[in-house]
Amino acid sequence: RMTLALDLRRADLNPARTPLIAVLVAAEEGLSDTARKLDSDLGGSLAAAVKDRVFRASRDEVLHFASGSALRVMLIGMGKATDRPVSVRRAAAVAARQARKLGAERLTIILRGDNEEEIESAVVGANMGAWEYLETKTPPPVSERRAPLTALTLLVDDPRRSRKAADSGDAIAAGIELARTLGMMPGNICTPDHFADTARDIAKRHKMKVTVLGRKEMEKLEMGAFLSVAQGTPQEPRLVALEYRGGKLKDKPVVLVGKGLCFDTGGISIKPAQGMEWMKFDMCGAAGVLGAMEAIARLALPLNVVGIIGATTNMPSGTAVKPGDVVRATNGKFIEIINTDAEGRLVLADLLGYARDFNPALVVDAATLTGACVIALGHSASGVFGSDADSIGEVLDAGRRAGEPGWELPLWDDFKELIASDVADVKNSGGRPAGAITAALFLKEFAEGYPWVHLDIAGTAYSETDLGWLPKGPTGIPVGTFVEICRARVTPS
Ligand code: BES
Ligand code: MN
Ligand code: ZN
Repeated sequence: RMTLALDLRRADLNPARTPLIAVLVAAEEGLSDTARKLDSDLGGSLAAAVKDRVFRASRDEVLHFASGSALRVMLIGMGKATDRPVSVRRAAAVAARQARKLGAERLTIILRGDNEEEIESAVVGANMGAWEYLETKTPPPVSERRAPLTALTLLVDDPRRSRKAADSGDAIAAGIELARTLGMMPGNICTPDHFADTARDIAKRHKMKVTVLGRKEMEKLEMGAFLSVAQGTPQEPRLVALEYRGGKLKDKPVVLVGKGLCFDTGGISIKPAQGMEWMKFDMCGAAGVLGAMEAIARLALPLNVVGIIGATTNMPSGTAVKPGDVVRATNGKFIEIINTDAEGRLVLADLLGYARDFNPALVVDAATLTGACVIALGHSASGVFGSDADSIGEVLDAGRRAGEPGWELPLWDDFKELIASDVADVKNSGGRPAGAITAALFLKEFAEGYPWVHLDIAGTAYSETDLGWLPKGPTGIPVGTFVEICRARVTPS
C-alpha cells in the first residue's frame, strides 16, 4: 500500500471534485472562512449546527451532512485543541476512518489557515486513519466492495507555499504506515528474515548501506546475550543495521535501536496462554526503527542516522536458554538469566554494544520492554529513561511534538541492588518492584560510551482496543518521536 495521493487546492468546493469534505473545528471556535463559504452552498446548516450546539466540536465528535447526492460534509470536532497539530492529526484520522466506511475515494479536508505544522499533521492523520491491514485478508466480492480511500485534498490559501509541509506529512505517514503494517503482521510472516528483507528494500530504494548479520556473524562478535534468546528457535536471528548518510562524512550519527521480537512466548519461563497472541507486537520497536528510516530518507534530512534492529523469536525448546544460565554480552559483561521472559533486554544489550562502533552522537532505543511500564504509565505515555538530563529532555520534547508523549522515570543507583547477581555482573530480572526501571538500569550497563535514551513502548506501541481515531493494533509509535529527534538536530529551534 502507498500513502494517499495528495492534492493541495485553493478553496474549491466543486462537488464533483470534493465528494466528501471534512471540516475540522476546535471547541468554541466557530467555522473558518472557507467552511462558511461552503456553508452558503448548504443553506447555512453547518453554522446552524454549531450555533444550536447540535455540534459542540468535542474531541472525535462527527456530524454528517448531505446535500443532494454528490456533496457530503462532515464536521469533525477537535475539543479544546491546546496542542493544535496533535489535535488536527487526530481529527484528520477520524475523518479518514469515516471516509473509508463511507466508501469515499477522495477525502477533502478544510483546515483553518495555512499553518505548516497543521498541514503536515493533517496529512499524517488522514493517512493514519486511512490505513488498514489487508495483507492476509480475502477481500469481499467485487459487488460488495467499497471503493478504497486513495486520495486526499487539502484546501489551503496558498497551495504552492503549503506543498513542502504536506510532502513532509506524506513522508512521515509512509514511515508510520510501514511500522504499523510490520506490527500487524503475524509472527509467522513477519519473521527475522522478513525484517531483513524489508530493510534491504529500504536500503535499495534510498541508497543506504545495509548490514545483515545471522547467528554465525553474531557468534564472531561474541553476542552471547542476543544469541541466548535466539538459541531456542530454529529461525535464523537477524541483526540489521541501516546507515543513512544525509550529513557530512565526519558527523556523528544518531543511532536508533529497536527490539524486534517477532514473537515472545516467554521461552522456558513461558507466558500464560490467555492473550499471548498480542506478543506478535513485541517487534514494534524494530518496526519503528525501520519506519523512521523510511521517513527520514523521504524527508532527505541532512544528518547521519543509523538504524539497528535485533530480530528473533523467544521460544521454549530443547535448545532454549534456561533460568540460572549465565551468558556474556558483546561488551564483556556477564548476565545471569533469572527469567527467560526478560528477553528483550538481552537482545538490546548486544545491540547497544554494537551501536558503540558507530561513534554515536546519541543512541535512542525503543522496546516493548516491560509489562511494568504499562502498569506505571498505562497506554498514554511511553516510559523514558536516559544517561543524562539533556538527552532525556531532547527525546521528551520530540515525543511531545510528535503527539507521542513520554514520561521520565528515575534511574537512580539505589535501584541497582534489585538486579545484582551472585554469579554474574548483573541479572536480567529484578522481579516485580520497579520493573520498568530495573529493565532500563539493566540496559544502562550496556549503553556505554555515548549519550543514551531508552523508550519503553510496551503500553503505547499498539492498542488492544479501538481508540476511535485509530483501530485496534499498532499505533505507529515511536516513528514520530524518532523523526522529531532527527529533525530537531538539523533545524535548531
Ligand atoms: N515483551 C514483554 C513485555 C510486554 C508485556 C510488552 C506486556 C507488552 C505488553 C517482555 O519481554 C517481558 O516479558 N517482560 C517481562 C519481564 C519480567 C519477566 C522481568 C514482564 O514485563 O513481565
Ligand atoms: Mn518477554
Ligand atoms: Zn518481550
